[in-house]
Amino acid sequence: MKAPALLVTGAAGFIGSHTVIELLSHGFHVIGIDNFCNSNKGVIDKILSLKNEFLGLTDVEFKHFSVDVRDKNALDGLFEQHTISGVIHFAGLKAVGESFGRPLDYWENNVGGTMNLIKVMEKHAVKNFVFSSSATVYGIPQHLPIKEDAPTGAFSPYGRTKWVCEQFLEDHAKANADWNISMLRYFNPVGAHESGMIGEFPNGVPNNLMPFVTQVAAGLRYKLSIFGNDYETPDGTCIRDFIHVVDLAQGHVAAIQAMGVQKQGPTKEASPKPPQNSIQGLNVFNFGTGFGVSVKELVETFIAVTGQKIPFEFVARRHGDVPSLYADASRAEELLGWQAQRGLETMCADAWRWQTSLK
Ligand code: NAD
Ligand code: UD1
Repeated sequence: MKAPALLVTGAAGFIGSHTVIELLSHGFHVIGIDNFCNSNKGVIDKILSLKNEFLGLTDVEFKHFSVDVRDKNALDGLFEQHTISGVIHFAGLKAVGESFGRPLDYWENNVGGTMNLIKVMEKHAVKNFVFSSSATVYGIPQHLPIKEDAPTGAFSPYGRTKWVCEQFLEDHAKANADWNISMLRYFNPVGAHESGMIGEFPNGVPNNLMPFVTQVAAGLRYKLSIFGNDYETPDGTCIRDFIHVVDLAQGHVAAIQAMGVQKQGPTKEASPKPPQNSIQGLNVFNFGTGFGVSVKELVETFIAVTGQKIPFEFVARRHGDVPSLYADASRAEELLGWQAQRGLETMCADAWRWQTSLK
């Protein structure tokens, strides 16, 4: 691709695939890479038919390459052959439980992959970088809603890889004032594209709540275990900040636009509210809705919206869960002009449409 394009790593993944669609919808050409360790090539076909047939986005280009972010030569070749204006880095391993048994894989992939990418970007003087971080870096929050300047730390190997990447990026930004780096701390992404063509593919038994709920509704699992109903919360179940993956994806467009990276193709859809301020240097943003929802409330809303039965039982607390975690998302609104729009009902309806499309 000769025209400037954004590079999206982990483009076939849950958040990556939705972000590719939103970037294309906002006029950006996109180059995606993935090694398909937690996704499959069929997602790329779905992105292409969503782009060309469902959305009619024929004026912007999407190209995909099977590349591992740890492969410096392959990345180098990609940067040689294309004009890359910025990088959004999703590629990584993300299962908290699994990370306890495979710390080396997690550090090598998440930390090694990120450092590799930055090194190749440096060589090719590409200086706009968006990093997928996680609310997991807040550990056990002292105050809610949680703000970006809250103390950070992490209890799992997965969490520590995100935390240490943030520290590395901070050091890199300090030493390289001409770089723009946004570290986005996602809360609990759920839902799927309204088309039902892309969504989340959990590997094996889902660890996360929403995919477990949709699989119970689809009859693939017998019942949902709700981990703990004796927390000091209004209904005794944990509280989280669930955010629709399309809102999250649109936040990435806002982050890239605020860095001043220009789109290269015509826009089909209205852009999100233009940023009031451009952002430069290192920035960290909470990507949540700012609203806490209890596990029980999510399950009840899912039942109400979809009409499906969700047999559930309350079981013991899950080790490592914090009772309540939700974002103060005002910084992203102020500096990026971005705010989540979709409510819990839409998250449930879209997650269910996606699940039923898999049959
Ligand atoms: P995902 O597993 O669906 O997507 C990640 C993609 O990266 C997958 O397609 C996988 O095949 C690919 N990948 C992994 N290692 C790679 C490598 N070395 N080279 C190339 N491709 C590689 O995960 P997701 O939910 O889309 O998450 C994206 C990012 O957001 C991850 O970094 C994750 O840690 C972070 N995050 C996710 C959540 C969440 O709840 N989904 C929450 C907080 C942060
Ligand atoms: C988890 C990770 C977090 C990661 C996030 C997104 C842990 C401790 N945290 O967050 O680092 O960034 O996923 O990938 O793993 N629940 C049930 N029954 C289930 C599944 C979940 O009751 O079968 C409850 C959990 O106890 C929790 C809530 O639902 O209270 C949300 O759980 P989950 O979707 O796993 O997300 P988090 O634990 O918030």
